[in-house]
Amino acid sequence: MSGIDDALYIRKLAMEHQKFFRESIPLIASENIMSPLAMEMLTTDLGFRYAEGLPHHRYYQGNFYVDQIEDKVIELSNRVFGVRQSDPRPVSGTNANTSVIYGLLNPGDKIAAPDLSGGGHISAAKFGAVGLRGLNIINYPYDAETMSIIPDEASKLVIREKPKVCLFGQSVFLFPAPLKEMADAFQEAGCTVWYDGAHVLGLIAGKQFQDPIREGANVITGSTHKTLPGPQHGIILGNTTDEKWKDIQRGVFPGTLSNHHLNAMAALGITLAETLDFGEQYARQVVKNARAMAEELNSQGVHVLGESRGFTQSHTFVADVRAFGGGKLVAENLEKSGIVANKNLLPWDNNRNSQNPSGIRIGTQEITRIGFGESESREVARNMAYVMKNGPSDKVKSAMADLKHKFSEIKYCFGRMKPYEYVEIYR
Ligand SMILES: Cc1ncc(COP(=O)(O)O)c(C=O)c1O
Repeated sequence: MSGIDDALYIRKLAMEHQKFFRESIPLIASENIMSPLAMEMLTTDLGFRYAEGLPHHRYYQGNFYVDQIEDKVIELSNRVFGVRQSDPRPVSGTNANTSVIYGLLNPGDKIAAPDLSGGGHISAAKFGAVGLRGLNIINYPYDAETMSIIPDEASKLVIREKPKVCLFGQSVFLFPAPLKEMADAFQEAGCTVWYDGAHVLGLIAGKQFQDPIREGANVITGSTHKTLPGPQHGIILGNTTDEKWKDIQRGVFPGTLSNHHLNAMAALGITLAETLDFGEQYARQVVKNARAMAEELNSQGVHVLGESRGFTQSHTFVADVRAFGGGKLVAENLEKSGIVANKNLLPWDNNRNSQNPSGIRIGTQEITRIGFGESESREVARNMAYVMKNGPSDKVKSAMADLKHKFSEIKYCFGRMKPYEYVEIYR
């Protein structure tokens, strides 16, 4: 019995998946595509090796090139983000978060975090990493229309409750977190300020969102594949004492991982080097596209949250689509029409309607990566509004495929994308 047909079946599905994405408009706010040079790193021998520990203090032989790569990635990250400390070993944003939780907090400690219904991430929830460590969670009060923490009320909460750590950062991250406004409260409570920049890391690198370290954060965690257009991986950045940094690094290894996916780390290094040259220009266009798309969708009669503050200052915006059948139906109809977005909880939703929440979430980081500007972003918004009002449309699907074909090359990077190469099969 041979497995060749099963192998070819999987391969065919992967190719069809690629074709689907080649012809669709990708608007999931947590995704992006990598540069060809970064992608090349993923297929190198680095992906087959182990390098437990820190550079020059490993447990296995064969790591002399890995040590030099990791040193360079750390140096690049320190430069891009203007920080003293970087650890590029976490294999995802969630792993970066669990490392910080493991390193800085003990069971029973108190942590303040954004509420899930206000855009917070599951790793900061009871049934996520924070719950796994047995922490007591308190949530900041927030404004429902802008999905933003209310600084005065949150400061009072922090002073009253004195959490050991104050966590900021959301999965729906429309406006900067109020770090400067809450600085006195952090001081009075004596807490560590942790900023989860998973979504906005590329905007921070490109100086287009907020500068958490200069605004008072002690540690930043992030995914490296959302607005930072790198590999699926994670990172931790610090401007903290050597002692606290050691605790965090112990949280990474041996705390929550053994090997750190060396090929992805090398790809991250290439992404950071490209960010030095193109990051600012890229991030500026990402935000412009998000604002243009949000404004256009709103003007088509779809309620986009946060109008009073210009809808968004990041790559993301959210729309309330209850008038068009809810988030589930709208996301499915958009998918049938060649536009990929996700349904999303909005502040007034509770867990009971998590399968059909009120909203959809949109991100412009990937379409910007292939060269979309504001006029293309507006064109997509008009087509989205059409689908919301009229249901799935073959006409929209074909218009979106035509638009996408005009933007098939990855921008803001060194090198050009080669066509996909196929492996010759023996059977
Ligand atoms: C705020 C926030 N933190 C952490 C994560 C987890 O990142 P990853 O998917 O890389 O584990 C996400 C994922 O979307 C997120 O939105």
